[in-house]
Parts: sequence; structure tokens; C-alpha cells
Amino acid sequence: MKILILGGTRFLGRATAQLAVEQGHDVTCAARGVSGVVPAGARFVPVDRDDPEALVPLAEEGFDAVVDVARQISHARHALAALADHVAHWSFVSTISVYADHTTPGQTVADAPVLAPAPPDVDGPMGPDHRWYGECKVSIEEMVRERMGGDRSFICRAGLIVGAEDPSDRFPYWVRRLAVGGEVLAPGHPTDRVQFVDVADLARWLLHAAGTRLAGTYDGSGPAMSRADLLAGVAAGLGVTDPFLTWVDQEFLLSHDVREWSGERALPLWVRLPETAGLMDRDVRPALDAGLTIRPLADTVWATASWLAAHPAAVRQSGLDPADEAAILRKWQAVRDR
Ligand SMILES: NC(=O)c1ccc[n+]([C@@H]2O[C@H](COP(=O)([O-])OP(=O)(O)OC[C@H]3O[C@@H](n4cnc5c(N)ncnc54)[C@H](OP(=O)(O)O)[C@@H]3O)[C@@H](O)[C@H]2O)c1
Repeated sequence: MKILILGGTRFLGRATAQLAVEQGHDVTCAARGVSGVVPAGARFVPVDRDDPEALVPLAEEGFDAVVDVARQISHARHALAALADHVAHWSFVSTISVYADHTTPGQTVADAPVLAPAPPDVDGPMGPDHRWYGECKVSIEEMVRERMGGDRSFICRAGLIVGAEDPSDRFPYWVRRLAVGGEVLAPGHPTDRVQFVDVADLARWLLHAAGTRLAGTYDGSGPAMSRADLLAGVAAGLGVTDPFLTWVDQEFLLSHDVREWSGERALPLWVRLPETAGLMDRDVRPALDAGLTIRPLADTVWATASWLAAHPAAVRQSGLDPADEAAILRKWQAVRDR
């Protein structure tokens, strides 16, 4: 296939380009080159999508498939205007942040309500909390379906993406933490649900979708599992037997300013329950039936640990530092043993 990746300089776009090259496809990546470099074997076309005409010169080349990771509505609009008539199949990487209800577990694409599209004066996510991110993705989804038609468009609503080159330091926190050993603060309850997808599995599915002209809207995530299975699986993948986990109550953590999900003092893959019980507990059977395959957790751990080892300076953005974690554990034990 002749594939155009709008992106390709980091994480998912780069993994997709890399796999496409390995599979023998003719791969072009269009980006600024600010976030990183495209994989060896892919052609890099420098473009700035803030320029509405930036992708026009690529139209005459024609492509079997486009994969777009855009977050900005105007970027997607310009890309569709320039390329839609010259491309057979369009994959848009969306997000589970398009959903309006993060409380109800077990929802599928077919039954889950989505947010309204972004208001007219919003073009992309804003501020440190990425306000309007989900709404912008809803707007882009609608544009892709409208411009490409339902039979030539594949909308992949990704869940938390993990694995090598993950810039977010969410899954990597747990890999680093369990590798260090000692008493590990495990948030919430062992049976709480967590859900994510390996970047390499998502990349493989995007290429499968392009190759088979898969059309429609799907969640792109692995099956949910318990947090106990996640932490045990991460430990096992690192060769750590019998990790020393201390489960700390949600309300205790929140009252000690331990935060959810991502960022400073946040414990990744942990969200407040029951308010967010649906976020990492979606029913992804339709995606699995449509060709998404999920590698063993140990492979994801290995890929993440190898990448961390090769990039010791990778930014640490999430989790608790060791002294903070130890202090919270001491306070928790005092409360628990009272
Ligand atoms: N990470 C997660 O857990 C998660 C979860 C759900 C959904 N998602 C979605 O999954 C996708 C992840 O994509 P990704 O990992 O490839 O990275 P990304 O962080 O979305 O990267 C954006 C890509 O677009 C390019 N880009 C940004 N501004 C540009 C501009 N003005 N002109 C041209 N290119 C531009 C960047 O390259 P340059 O900077 O080099 O130009 C980069 O390659 C996104 O769609 C995201 O919304 C992510």
C-alpha cells in the first residue's frame, strides 16, 4: 500500500509508520519534524498544518490510505479538503474522551453517548487540562465521515495508549516503580478495572484496517483487567516475583492530595470510583472481532522497560517520588492499624 501518515514523528504515528515500513509498504509521513524524526525507511515531508494549503502538493501523488492523528479541527479540515478525493481509505485516530458518560461500565460504541462537537470558536484543545479535547475529536470524526463517506472511513477511538516511546509517563511509572521493588503503594482496590492498549497493537490494527478497508467507528483498546492483575503482570514481566503491594484506600489518597490518572503526584491507571468507573471498563468485543489483536502484557512491559533503559532521561511526569510514597504509606498504616 501507499500510505500517508499525517504525523509519524512520535509515539503512535511513528509506531504505525515503523510497522508499515517493516510490512513493506510505501510510507510517507507529513509533519513539521518538531516532535521527533520519522522511522528509517519512511519518507519525511515537512509540512506545517497551520498552513491551509500545506498538504495540497501531496494530493497529486494519490494514496491507498491516510492515517491522521490530528487534535486540531482546522488541521483535519485542511487535510480532508486537500486529499479526500485522492485517497481510498482514511483512518482517524480519535479517543475515548469523546464519550459523555465515563461512569457506566461495559459500554460499547453502539450504545455510548458522545459529547457535542466543539463550539465554532474552538479549534483545538486548550490549556493544561486540554479543555475541549474530546469535543474537537467529535468534530473531526464528523468531518471525516461526511467527507470520506461511511464506507471509506475508519474512526478508532483509542483508550490509554502504552508501550515503547510513551511520552505521557503513565504506564512507564508502574514499570519503573515495580522494577525498583520494596513496598509499593497500590491505589484503590485490587478488583478496580483498568484498560489500555499497546501502541504496537494499535499500529498493527490501523494498518489492518487500511489493508482490509475496514469502515466504521470502534474503540481501540484492550479488554479491561483488574488493577491487581495489571500490577502482578507488570511485576512478572520484569521478573519480579511476589511484589510487596500495599493497597491504599481511594478516599485516603484523595485527602492526601494524591491525584488521579496523569501528572504531578498522580498515580496513573487510577481514577476515582464510582464517578469514573466506565473510563477503563469499556466493552471492546467489536474491536477484537474487527481484527484488533492484543499482545501479552509481558511483551508490553518488556517494550516499555527496554525503551526506558535506553532513554534514562525520558521525562518523568507522573507518579509519586519515593520519599512522598513512603510518607503516605506510613500515614496509611497508622490509620489502618488503629
Ligand atoms: N496517548 C494516549 O494515551 C492517547 C489516548 C487516546 C487517544 N490518543 C490519540 O492518539 C493519537 C496519538 O498520536 P501520536 O502518538 O502520533 O502523537 P501526537 O502527540 O498526537 O502527535 C501529533 C503529531 O502531529 C504532528 N503535528 C502536530 N502539529 C503539527 C502541525 N502544525 N503541522 C504538522 N504536523 C503537526 C506532530 O509532529 P511534529 O510535532 O513533528 O509536527 C506529531 O507527529 C492522537 O490522535 C491522540 O489524540 C492518545
